[in-house]
Amino acid sequence: MDSPLRSFEARELRQVLGSFVTGVTVITTVDQEGRGQGLTANSFSSVSLDPPLILWSQARTAPSHAVFDRCERFAVNILADDQVDVSNRFSRGAPDKFAGLDLTPGLGGVPLIPGCAAHLECRKVQAYPGGDHVVFIGEVERIERHSRQPLVFGGGRYLVAQPHDLGPVGTESSGNIARLKAVRMATRRLAELSVELDETLGLGVWGNKGPTIVRWEASTRPVSDNLRTGLVLPVLTSATGLAFAAWLPREAMAPFIDAELLQDASGNFYPDKLRLPQQLQQIRRDGYVRLVGTDDFADLYGGSISAASVPVFDSGGAMVLALTAIGARERLDTSPDGPLIAGLRSCAAGITRYLATAAPT
Ligand SMILES: Cc1cc2nc3c(=O)[nH]c(=O)nc-3n(C[C@H](O)[C@H](O)[C@H](O)COP(=O)(O)O)c2cc1C
Repeated sequence: MDSPLRSFEARELRQVLGSFVTGVTVITTVDQEGRGQGLTANSFSSVSLDPPLILWSQARTAPSHAVFDRCERFAVNILADDQVDVSNRFSRGAPDKFAGLDLTPGLGGVPLIPGCAAHLECRKVQAYPGGDHVVFIGEVERIERHSRQPLVFGGGRYLVAQPHDLGPVGTESSGNIARLKAVRMATRRLAELSVELDETLGLGVWGNKGPTIVRWEASTRPVSDNLRTGLVLPVLTSATGLAFAAWLPREAMAPFIDAELLQDASGNFYPDKLRLPQQLQQIRRDGYVRLVGTDDFADLYGGSISAASVPVFDSGGAMVLALTAIGARERLDTSPDGPLIAGLRSCAAGITRYLATAAPT
């Protein structure tokens, strides 16, 4: 029955709940004929350490509900970050979800899925009604942990877990502290800006392998499903890379630029190396990088893209971060007076100002 106070719709509730980020599990059991059953579930949660209890909840309408309602045991398979295919497989009603998996029989013959970050084998001790779901409580009988990173789910999509910081603040150089502050601040601002502009935005830092994307915010029309964090970009042919090339000290950039120019000698790319100094000067004058239509990332993003990148500086004037937008060539407006560049510039200027004035950590 609808509460008279309820002012939201199911879709909104789902979105709000999606801002609580979780891991992803597959809960497995066996039916009375000894056949494996399993479903993807992110409702898993810890309950108690002593006694060791966990919970998860299942929709009453799930085809496998009758089996879980009757089962004595189940196992929680905590998926690793390379098991999106396993999560997809177990979230669809398929005839044999276990086909081709190298399963291990756990306690009571409950199948354990290989390649997971961890397993918890449980005896079902309680089942509570919870609206259109049933909450199952399991007492943990056996556990196993593997050295794999867990898969993450939030905002309706799969994510990977990244350490929050780039390193321990206390022992870092002041340059890295500025970078940490910039990343924290920019992560928040980038999410807001991406919603405001409805564009796909990335945060680039200078990593030890070159320009590295540490954060993506996808628009409602993402360029690709393949927005990987940790992506190392070329210096001379990506907007993020060119921003660092234009504003980082020339000595720091030289080995990276030379390596890419060498690739050119082997017949690979860089279009016009003689023009590079002028091009970098022009970028500094414009205050941002504008890349209109490149096919260099077609493997990653499946087509021709445009991109723009704006620098963020620390209190000493060193570039610490690139705010980058990417979009399909035909629709990303990278013109200097368009809303995208204005938004990126104002966001970058805000973070630069914050870094200039924030008290030292
Ligand atoms: C990331 C993710 C999390 C899910 N979490 C749950 C959950 O906690 N409980 C649930 O009943 N269904 C959940 N589902 C949906 C079930 O996996 C899906 O309905 C599945 O087909 C049910 O299995 P069955 O058809 O074999 O019963 C989730 C799906 C996804 C993709």
